[in-house]
Amino acid sequence: MKSVILYDSLGGNTAKVAETIQRSLTAKAMTPHMVKVDKELMVDLFDYDLIFIGSPVIDWLPTQTLMNFVKRTMKAYSQQGLIKPSSPTIPGKFGISFGTYAGPHIGEKEALPMTMWLNSFLEHLGYTGLDQWLVVGKHHHNPEINKNGRLGNIEDRPHEADLLTIENRVNGIVDSLSAWTA
Ligand SMILES: Cc1cc2nc3c(=O)[nH]c(=O)nc-3n(C[C@H](O)[C@H](O)[C@H](O)COP(=O)(O)O)c2cc1C
Repeated sequence: MKSVILYDSLGGNTAKVAETIQRSLTAKAMTPHMVKVDKELMVDLFDYDLIFIGSPVIDWLPTQTLMNFVKRTMKAYSQQGLIKPSSPTIPGKFGISFGTYAGPHIGEKEALPMTMWLNSFLEHLGYTGLDQWLVVGKHHHNPEINKNGRLGNIEDRPHEADLLTIENRVNGIVDSLSAWTA
């Protein structure tokens, strides 16, 4: 089963989660390809059976760079007739959206649109969206809200326990896909 981790990160929090996913997949004998998106990146996602796509939450959504990557990719696949009515599920193709957020105003609710947005992309391709993972990550530019936001003190997030949770979730997902990985 070929896997890819596509992500963006402005201050390093989401990169830590992406690296944890990479390490955990590698420990489970998968060999993931990991790419940080940029303005020009093009990747043929259909080459992969398991896609992880992640971003920091920026104003409730993914970063512009990641959204532009998604829009570019959708356009290219639409032109090739690969985005089909009803988005038929492709057997053996799966995806997970993930990200980090500070939740200063309304907590996790302000992060859900971000992973939903990415999950919708995966499902438009015909991939089955398996899960959406959110990890708390301190705000780099507004330290005041790291103490007084809806989630309380998040100055040390993501911390080791957050990353261990991600490792455990990767292990669980890989085990759940044993029919394809065996
Ligand atoms: C410009 C900007 C906008 C942000 N908007 C939100 C937001 O709407 N909701 C939220 O929960 N966190 C928001 N955050 C906090 C980030 O999502 C959080 O700190 C994240 O962990 C940063 O990840 P990174 O280090 O990978 O860039 C924002 C941060 C920045 C810099």
